[in-house]
Amino acid sequence: GRLAAAVQAMPKTELHVHIEGTLEPGLALQFAARNDVELPWTSLDALSAQYEFTDLQSFLDLYYRLMGTLRHAQDFHDLMLSYLRRAAQDGVRHAEIFFDPQVHLANGIPYDTVLDGLHAGLREGEERYGVSGALILCIVRDLPLQDAERMLDLAVPRADEVLGIGLDSAEVGHPPKLFEHVFERAGDLGWHRVAHAGEEAGIDYMQQALDLLHVERIDHGAHALDDAAMMRRLAEERVPVTRCPLSNIRLHVVKDAEGLRIRDFLDAGVITTVNSDDPAYFGGYLTDNYLALVQAGCTLYDLARLGEMSIQASFLDQGRKAALL
Ligand code: ADE
Ligand code: ZN
Repeated sequence: GRLAAAVQAMPKTELHVHIEGTLEPGLALQFAARNDVELPWTSLDALSAQYEFTDLQSFLDLYYRLMGTLRHAQDFHDLMLSYLRRAAQDGVRHAEIFFDPQVHLANGIPYDTVLDGLHAGLREGEERYGVSGALILCIVRDLPLQDAERMLDLAVPRADEVLGIGLDSAEVGHPPKLFEHVFERAGDLGWHRVAHAGEEAGIDYMQQALDLLHVERIDHGAHALDDAAMMRRLAEERVPVTRCPLSNIRLHVVKDAEGLRIRDFLDAGVITTVNSDDPAYFGGYLTDNYLALVQAGCTLYDLARLGEMSIQASFLDQGRKAALL
């Protein structure tokens, strides 16, 4: 409709999307077939029936299972290209994209294979669709700490091909403070630092991410509203939050779009952005995530401000930001 067209036309970036979370069920079945990977579901109907989630872990179980269909650089290339094509339709001008190399390593896929494929996809996507992109290497927080340190060792020779470090996967019981040294090393590489915090865990995890990991953005931060001091801190220190409406709803972090309380973030002066997280799993890409906010009382003007903030909150240089705004 007209509202969707208006949202698509707004200049914006996407700052919280996992490339593996853009793996559509149909594409996963194609990769499984061409790579001889066995899945418990052989038809699109059978697989598509698996997308009712009760919490973060129930989603992660399927997400990690389907990740096993990615075997070759060409798979990563195809996946990236299909995301960038879809992002371009939604008017995304630039994307800072998470990937989970520790999981691919555990599946026997060398880091170079993953990075080669994703970069080939980024180059072709920028050429074809005009969307620029960069990679944020996510540490999988429920794997052993030594695994994270080893991941960083592997990433050092090609450090300039990565924009930043992130922290994802099962949050509760895996607090940011465990990764202080890993993030310090990432900072020494010149990488930007972000972390998922306050998705299922409380604001103490957000505090740790800020104080110990020195993150420049908080991914999700849905629980910041539990604490007025945290909201003031995010606003004063100008730390953006990357909110993911459909993700929070589908994983029962909030009850409904109202529960996201995006207007309260805006009113508190927090730099707030809208993102799709894992669009192949949560029922919508970026425009759908903006439109979900309309039900919760956001006006078209609010959506345009959120789009502008997504440009401000990106790691683009000032010149490129100005050109997009
Ligand atoms: N990995 C992919 N999506 C995630 C999310 N929403 N939270 C934590 N880890 C993730
Ligand atoms: Zn995420």
